[in-house]
Amino acid sequence: MSPDSSGTPSAKSLVDTAVAHYGRLGWPKPRLALISGSGLSVDLGTPLHPPVSLGEILGQAVHGIEGHPLRVEIVEVLPGHPVLYFRGRVHGYQGHPPALTVLPVRLAAALGATGILLTNAAGGVCPERQRAGDLVLITDQINLTGTTPLLGDLPAEWGPRFPIMVDAYDHGMRRLALAKGRGLGIDLEEGVYAGLLGPAYETPAEARMLNLLGAHLTGMSTVLEVIAARQMGVRCFGLSLVTNIAATAEADHEEVLASGRAAALKVQRLLGAMLADPALYV
Ligand code: HPA
Repeated sequence: MSPDSSGTPSAKSLVDTAVAHYGRLGWPKPRLALISGSGLSVDLGTPLHPPVSLGEILGQAVHGIEGHPLRVEIVEVLPGHPVLYFRGRVHGYQGHPPALTVLPVRLAAALGATGILLTNAAGGVCPERQRAGDLVLITDQINLTGTTPLLGDLPAEWGPRFPIMVDAYDHGMRRLALAKGRGLGIDLEEGVYAGLLGPAYETPAEARMLNLLGAHLTGMSTVLEVIAARQMGVRCFGLSLVTNIAATAEADHEEVLASGRAAALKVQRLLGAMLADPALYV
């Protein structure tokens, strides 16, 4: 690893280390990556190889928010189309720098993945027309974390210094999700996701502000991952489960997880149908 002057490993050395660890596993190169959010880690079939922990694959000491190891699998819903599946993610509020938060995305891109699917638990900020349990396709995002994974010098081969964020969420992947949702009888809304650092949930004033800003959803993930992916030219798909209406008294982490478990079957069927379709892998 090549630390910078403060002793922090550079974003590039983190990726190089992760690529080397991946190489030692002997897993195939993924065509796509999938990162699942709180309570949304659904089974997508028998992994091609025994799963590993996120820390093992990234070569970094990282763990889930309850301190347990996060699992990484290589799965193949469509034969010949391996998907690198991160069952949980690294959040900024755990104290991790953006370079570590987005490392799964950069690893997948460095290995040749051309698309990434992200799921998350979110609070709804449109109380008059949302309910816990709604599934929402993310159409756009507002990064309110106060940071970005693009700070500092990054390798030129990762992409432009000033990446374009128009159409950050891929239209084709969204169209495919809508078509699969229709076929399966799964209702899908569309909306804008505001990403905040957390971990405190929003105050009522903050939830109203997010609504006024044009957001429909609020959460503590996804936006930095999408910025890193777009810089590297990776297509992004985002699916939020509304686990609660933001800034209502009952929003707590247990409720978020319980709501995730209840909706997991719908998410599993939708992702399964999308991953089985060759159109997702263009
Ligand atoms: N706010 C922020 N993040 C969340 C929420 C919320 O209400 N619910 C699930 N993740």
